[in-house]
Amino acid sequence: MSRPIKIAPSILAADFAKLGKEVRDVTDAGADWIHLDVMDGHFVPNISYGPDVIKALRSSSEAVFDCHLMISPCDPYLEAFAKAGCDIITVHAEAGPHLHRSLQAVRSLGKKAGVAINPATPESLIEPVINDVDLILIMSVNPGFGGQKFIPSILEKARRINAMIGTRAIDLEVDGGITVETAPLAAAAGINALVAGSAVFRGGTIEAYRENISAIRAAAVGATG
Ligand code: DX5
Ligand code: ZN
Repeated sequence: MSRPIKIAPSILAADFAKLGKEVRDVTDAGADWIHLDVMDGHFVPNISYGPDVIKALRSSSEAVFDCHLMISPCDPYLEAFAKAGCDIITVHAEAGPHLHRSLQAVRSLGKKAGVAINPATPESLIEPVINDVDLILIMSVNPGFGGQKFIPSILEKARRINAMIGTRAIDLEVDGGITVETAPLAAAAGINALVAGSAVFRGGTIEAYRENISAIRAAAVGATG
């Protein structure tokens, strides 16, 4: 079953000195989702921003706020991210011992629940919660930083997860090192949601963003046949 291609610019690569305008511009440039990388300096070796920043950005865009929590523990903060206006809240399978409870909590907050797995994490961690998620995020870099190189070995895992999803209404997302070169590889493996930070925000103008988004989208759509 082919799911529509979604382009989700990661604002980690945006100009933090004018984040509201960047979110507005990248939305106007054609972003389907806004990918929000939340980092705590504990689960990943970097610190980004929290729910208050997301709340401040909410009025800058009507796009889906796709929140990627690279934090541990995550449960104590789920409500704050839901109230901040996130539409999808994705937790890492590696972030704690009670993944099913975290996903249940996200859905009980009325939000779409996502599970993310790192490059070294097998898809077997997802099987027990396949009916409790609306999105599966496959990391194609080790989380914490933008501008890293795509790890091609995740493509085989993506194919297996795509088969696991079957006809379920689950978006399959990839995150890290997505460019016009790697986007078709991901789409051909059954991935439909593409996170891209540096490849979208390259150029720094709304015109550049529009060109970058449509080039990545065209490359992905072209590979879905
Ligand atoms: C990394 C983040 C990614 C990253 C993507 O931990 O989860 O979303 O910002 O950045 P690029 O597209 O530059 O690899
Ligand atoms: Zn991310």
